[in-house]
Amino acid sequence: MNTAPIRPAAIVRDADGTPRSADYGDLYHPRGGALAQARHVFLNGDGLAERWRGRERFVVLETGFGLGNNFLATWSAWRADPQRCRQLHFLSIEATPPSQADFRAAARDPALAPLAAELADRWPPLTWNLHRRSFDADRVELLLAFGDIAAWLPQLVARVDAFFLDGFAPARNPAMWDGRLFKAMARLAAADATVATWTAARAVRDGLRSAGFVVEAAAGSGGKRDITRARFAPRFTPRPAPRQAMLAPSAKPAWRSTPAGGATRPVVIVGAGLAGCALAGALAERGRSSLLLERQDDVAREGSGNAAGLFHGVVHRIDGRHARFHRAAASAARDAVQEAIRAHGVRGSVAGLLRVEFGATGRDALQAIVDALGLPPDCVQALDAKGASELAGVPLSAPAWHHPHGGWVDPRGLARAALARAGGQAELRTGCAIASLRHEAGEWLLLDETGVTVAAADAVALCNAGGAFDLLGGAPWPVERQRGQTSGIAVTHLPANAIPRLPLTGVGYALPAIDGTVWFGASAQWNDSDAAVRPADHLDNLERLARLVGLPAWAPRIGLDDIDGRTGFRWQSRDRLPIIGAVPAALAVVAGFAGPATAPRRLDQPRLVPRAPGLFVFSALGSRGIASSTLGAQLLAAAIAGAPSPVEADLLDAVDPARFLVRRFRHDDASRQNPSPLFVQPPVGPMAGSAGA
Ligand SMILES: Cc1cc2nc3c(=O)[nH]c(=O)nc-3n(C[C@H](O)[C@H](O)[C@H](O)COP(=O)(O)OP(=O)(O)OC[C@H]3O[C@@H](n4cnc5c(N)ncnc54)[C@H](O)[C@@H]3O)c2cc1C
Ligand SMILES: C[S@@+](CC[C@H](N)C(=O)[O-])C[C@H]1O[C@@H](n2cnc3c(N)ncnc32)[C@H](O)[C@@H]1O
Repeated sequence: MNTAPIRPAAIVRDADGTPRSADYGDLYHPRGGALAQARHVFLNGDGLAERWRGRERFVVLETGFGLGNNFLATWSAWRADPQRCRQLHFLSIEATPPSQADFRAAARDPALAPLAAELADRWPPLTWNLHRRSFDADRVELLLAFGDIAAWLPQLVARVDAFFLDGFAPARNPAMWDGRLFKAMARLAAADATVATWTAARAVRDGLRSAGFVVEAAAGSGGKRDITRARFAPRFTPRPAPRQAMLAPSAKPAWRSTPAGGATRPVVIVGAGLAGCALAGALAERGRSSLLLERQDDVAREGSGNAAGLFHGVVHRIDGRHARFHRAAASAARDAVQEAIRAHGVRGSVAGLLRVEFGATGRDALQAIVDALGLPPDCVQALDAKGASELAGVPLSAPAWHHPHGGWVDPRGLARAALARAGGQAELRTGCAIASLRHEAGEWLLLDETGVTVAAADAVALCNAGGAFDLLGGAPWPVERQRGQTSGIAVTHLPANAIPRLPLTGVGYALPAIDGTVWFGASAQWNDSDAAVRPADHLDNLERLARLVGLPAWAPRIGLDDIDGRTGFRWQSRDRLPIIGAVPAALAVVAGFAGPATAPRRLDQPRLVPRAPGLFVFSALGSRGIASSTLGAQLLAAAIAGAPSPVEADLLDAVDPARFLVRRFRHDDASRQNPSPLFVQPPVGPMAGSAGA
């Protein structure tokens, strides 16, 4: 996927104040006003009030977010309607978004101004991502796809109820109206989807018709003679691929991942660490209840039990899946941490983070990457050692990335806050260890070690770190366990210029003082299951800290008795990305799931791999679980609830539990010739470390 830098819109104003694009030479809305057009052409044109009435969720896809007036008008109408749907999702694609200042400064109808101000305060950085903002207690979700429409359309995973086509005039802006748009609309359209647009251009009407829409002209307003409305009525409905089927409960394909019994039973979540708690919160946001089964006597006692940890994005000269996933994840983490601090008093900060680049020749080398990627300063900045030292309050010896929206948090507090967010929608049962999983009579049974059924469910999410792979038979998963030890020293034992004001990372990490202690670390050992805190690891951590804060001389003088510590284990996949999504049918056979008799002919894309209905895994968060659990939970909750995916298809593939099987299919001639053995047998050999886990 090509992720070109995002350029801000060049907006000028006509004499009457109407905003015009300097790039396209066209108006953002008619002179009669944005709200009048939004209401007549889009809200009425798509019949929103009648169509969202009483529904669980309603999904709008807009082409061209522009100044956001159509979104604001839709949100405002939703707010005012007592019979509105429970949840409104508004996806919008925009190649050249306004800067935050331009968005804030845009003239608004008084009815929309307060909503615009709310969005302006949370305006996303101009990066190639699907930026998620939610409002009104998470009942309104805005997903803003920044980037060119041609690149974004194949990346959206959603069932769309209403399309708003709002590019500039087709003659000036043909990219917004070409054949790919109409084809993509047919792929994304829900059974009764409608389309509204202000244009009456023949090419647009023909394009809609050719994609299976029935088109009609309607009376225009604001100087337009007629406008276009359309309804999806295809002559045949192609069977959706398994992943798209997750979003199409009415389609009833042979292999679905949505739970068979509908949405009434709670989703059972095994494990209440960061992953499990974040999932419970994200499910509640999407109207689903959950039951968490946790073997410890409280949440976040294992991998997520450190005193604190940090979160930040990743910058890489190739803006690939890894960098994009972690940029999106860091943004979601920041929102969650900010909310946890505000609403629940969790210890943490979103005031920024520095990643020291010991290998870099100087700031210019970092700046060249920022320039090539076009990353804006509110996403990341390249600093020289002096500038970074001033921010950090310690003498750093190398240039650094400054992530202004990175930070640190107490992960236990973050997990509790996510659970609290779910409120009555989530029930936590502690002291409850799940020993096995069975698929019987169309439902999933969770059993304890005596073989007693603890819970039965239509949908189960395995969020129990390495235990998830044990429940799924262990060996096929390319995951490894890594031991890690953190160390903590009271500030009274440290020189003042060794205590950073911002979290630092580079060689290990160091956090600002938390309740009088500076936490740092962490060691990383494969094939090591020793849970004890080891003096030798404290010494290693001290060396890292000394190097990180640029003070090599003092570290050896600290006594080991002065150091506190904790050991934990990180589960990591071979490609260093988490494993999140529906479990491939082949890998659920171990739980008694009767897979299909024959494999599909093609398994070269994760989205084509058949799944075990209602069985999900969310694990292998590695050393970035604080950073990635919020986004991971959102994407999984969206899949379970049938809501639009908050990440692009490309990233769903990148974390998909089926990706290892797909790689095997792609790279092994024999598997391509005959995928059946691959499909019904464990597809991937274990990594060296998984045996002793
Ligand atoms: C030393 C160290 C430092 C780290 N620093 C950072 C950092 O700075 N930033 C960052 O982003 N990440 C960091 N991480 C990683 C992060 O902590 C993990 O990725 C994250 O905590 C994993 O969360 P989880 O919910 O997947 O696993 P866990 O927190 O381990 O949760 C799994 C839960 O499942 C329960 N469970 C397991 N099996 C069963 C069963 N059979 N039945 C019932 N319950 C079960 C467990 O008791 C546990 O509560 C660090 C990790 C370590 C070890
Ligand atoms: C008429 S304006 C949209 C107005 C907007 N719906 C509103 O309510 O304010 C058209 C928008 O389409 C965007 N656009 C034009 N070409 C594009 C492309 N190729 N990909 C994505 N967006 C594009 C423009 O930047 C512009 O913001």
